[in-house]
Amino acid sequence: MLKTVLLYSLLYGVALPLLAQKHPLPDPLILNNGKRVTSANEWRSQRRPELLERFANEMYGHSPSKPSGMTFEVFDTDPKALRGKATRKQVAVYFNGKHEGPRMDVLIYIPNQVKGPVPAIVGLNFWGNHSINSDPGIRISPSWMESNRGNPYIDVSCVVNHRSTEACRGINARQWPIDSILERGYALVTAYREDIASDEPATKFTTGVHTLYPELQNRGDNFGTVAAWAWGLSRIMDYVQTDKRIDAKRVAVFGWSRLGKAALWAGVTDERFALVISHESGAGGAKLFHRGVGENIRRLCTVFPHWYAGNFKKYMDQDTLLPFDQHLVISLVAPRPVYIASAEQDKGSDPEGEFDGAKAASAVYQFLGTTGLPTAQLPPLQQSVQGQIGYHIRPGGHDVTNYDWAQYLDFMDKHIKK
Ligand code: GCU
Repeated sequence: MLKTVLLYSLLYGVALPLLAQKHPLPDPLILNNGKRVTSANEWRSQRRPELLERFANEMYGHSPSKPSGMTFEVFDTDPKALRGKATRKQVAVYFNGKHEGPRMDVLIYIPNQVKGPVPAIVGLNFWGNHSINSDPGIRISPSWMESNRGNPYIDVSCVVNHRSTEACRGINARQWPIDSILERGYALVTAYREDIASDEPATKFTTGVHTLYPELQNRGDNFGTVAAWAWGLSRIMDYVQTDKRIDAKRVAVFGWSRLGKAALWAGVTDERFALVISHESGAGGAKLFHRGVGENIRRLCTVFPHWYAGNFKKYMDQDTLLPFDQHLVISLVAPRPVYIASAEQDKGSDPEGEFDGAKAASAVYQFLGTTGLPTAQLPPLQQSVQGQIGYHIRPGGHDVTNYDWAQYLDFMDKHIKK
């Protein structure tokens, strides 16, 4: 019977709820040596590092540190962008300091109505900086672009031969409500995923940051693309720390879906991020594999073989038996605020599994003396719960909506607005 169920789940890329919770979730507060963590200091000096090491070894890979030769060049400043509401800046980040080397463009909008350094949201985008707003001043990304997505939330017919054209300006603006973000007093800082690492299995590890660290590749704990995106978010943070108009101590990292997986890992690996928003991050993000529901490890590792380290493939078909799980990743953000969100129809991400990930991470938040997640039950649709962990589930499918942003801005107001 078990074999049949496993076979079925393999064939369909989903495991049946029948298998759900067969194996207990690893307790975040029990050390590898079996002893219970008894103090915040023990969490910090022993448990947190051993978990970080485990996830770097088994799942995400080991990332390089900040490159010593990296340079920033502000190539555009417009103090009257977006009808005077914002100052727009664009910064070229040369990862190895060479103009012919890999380059990431960072687009920044800083609200003009606020005095002093402002808090900010840093997040990667799916379709190039020019896609998030129709502002004609944004440099059109020359990087490779997906041209076919069969996905209802975006029309990419403007992409020709895998390159963006003028017609691509603002194609993804709906998911980036810049006016509300600015009105609430936050800067928005974004960059394009492909500038950091290729998201195509065929060209994996041949562009962006991966070209600089060949020695990190042919090994089981290789630096996968999700980790590379997280690394890129940290490089954006390196720039932000140099910009006097942004308060680097009040920066939230945001990401949706695969970029929500990356935002979570960035928040874990880089404690300069004061708050983390992992939106519909699903498998390899916030959802628990142990439930055996939604996208599984086999699908992640075969459809997106570049996202995680080679070692992660060992765990294909072991979802419900894993010796670790994603609640441990979320708990590594503690005690900093983290928000996890789901959409009712986003079945691949397993909304309940995302909620359960947040709930299980709450043990660490509470242990560290914060409120954690203020509910043990999946809340009704459109009822955001906000403690040190925030969560909501809204109607609809895999997308980023104004409702989602409104909750995130409230959560940020609560925790980092001052
Ligand atoms: C696919 C993938 C998900 C991912 C999503 C996205 O659906 O299976 O894991 O989150 O793409 O990034 O949009």
